[in-house]
Amino acid sequence: MKIHERTILNGRVVIVTGAGRGIGRAEALECGRQGAAVVVSDLDEAVATEVVDQIRSEGGRAVASVGDVSDTMVADALVTRAVAEFGQLDALVNNAGFVSDRTVAKMSDDEWDSVLRVHLRGHFTCTRAACRYWKESERTGRLVHTTSASGILGNFGQSNYGTAKAGIAAFSTIVAMEMARYQVTSNAIAPSAITRLTEDLLPDEEMREHERAAEEHGFDFFAPENIAPLVAYLCSADSGHISGKVFGVQGDSIELYQPFTSVAEITAGNRRWRPSELDGRIDDLFSDACVQAGPENMMARMRYGILST
Ligand SMILES: NC(=O)c1ccc[n+]([C@@H]2O[C@H](COP(=O)([O-])OP(=O)(O)OC[C@H]3O[C@@H](n4cnc5c(N)ncnc54)[C@H](O)[C@@H]3O)[C@@H](O)[C@H]2O)c1
Repeated sequence: MKIHERTILNGRVVIVTGAGRGIGRAEALECGRQGAAVVVSDLDEAVATEVVDQIRSEGGRAVASVGDVSDTMVADALVTRAVAEFGQLDALVNNAGFVSDRTVAKMSDDEWDSVLRVHLRGHFTCTRAACRYWKESERTGRLVHTTSASGILGNFGQSNYGTAKAGIAAFSTIVAMEMARYQVTSNAIAPSAITRLTEDLLPDEEMREHERAAEEHGFDFFAPENIAPLVAYLCSADSGHISGKVFGVQGDSIELYQPFTSVAEITAGNRRWRPSELDGRIDDLFSDACVQAGPENMMARMRYGILST
């Protein structure tokens, strides 16, 4: 198959981490189809090589780079490889990661550390390597990070993962501020798709219902391929005016998240608050903002696992 005619990444070079499977794989393939040379990074050599072969078979350019992205040497080598193979780097898509779910009371140190390491440190190491390259080479750049609704809205059993993903949204915003003067943009996506990471979370009945709907509509809402168009766009020269933003993306839908924002204020009046007077006064914040102090509605109560109360 020839590369599509109306492509938006011609001549650009993109790194996608965790590109051997799921969302990252779809992102790497789409970047290839849009004309980019792609560095396909994954822990697993076999799946990374398969993605490289597919991009090449479609007429694109790609190389595999194998290793754990939270290792500084692996992250630095990714950027070095992109420049050595393709002459430059234009965009980095931080996507690699996994989950290790457990309620906080039962969670082990390793379950906490390993999830924070791959997501938070993995985003940091690769972003730092790319930003150093863009600063030194005086080239513009694009960063796309992968957060999650789990970090933005919370998800039962994912205190480690949600904490990492909320950190990634904050990290993206701060990198956007720091790198603006170098014309490097930094945005985050919160995707939703059925992949190895999520397939076990769906009850069999819901999975069957999903497959039935996909067949009926001729559109698989939870296909990982649905995430890739937005990511390709955020890697392109066209998106230079967008930075520090968080997008939700799934199916045919793209959402814009608002960052944490102050919605109400109480003041003590030119003196320090006394702890005891906050009882009662603190509720003015909730009433002024029309927000309840606990879970607000049925969906929120469901997330808290207290629907019956
Ligand atoms: N699937 C969803 O609905 C969903 C929702 C929100 C966020 N995400 C995020 O999207 C990203 C991709 O998830 P997915 O659903 O495609 O998962 P996946 O398991 O299908 O693919 C993840 C890939 O990352 C690779 N990987 C894992 N650790 C790595 C490391 N240390 N270094 C290099 N590669 C590594 C794996 O080998 C795998 O090929 C993750 O960051 C995930 O947290 C996914």
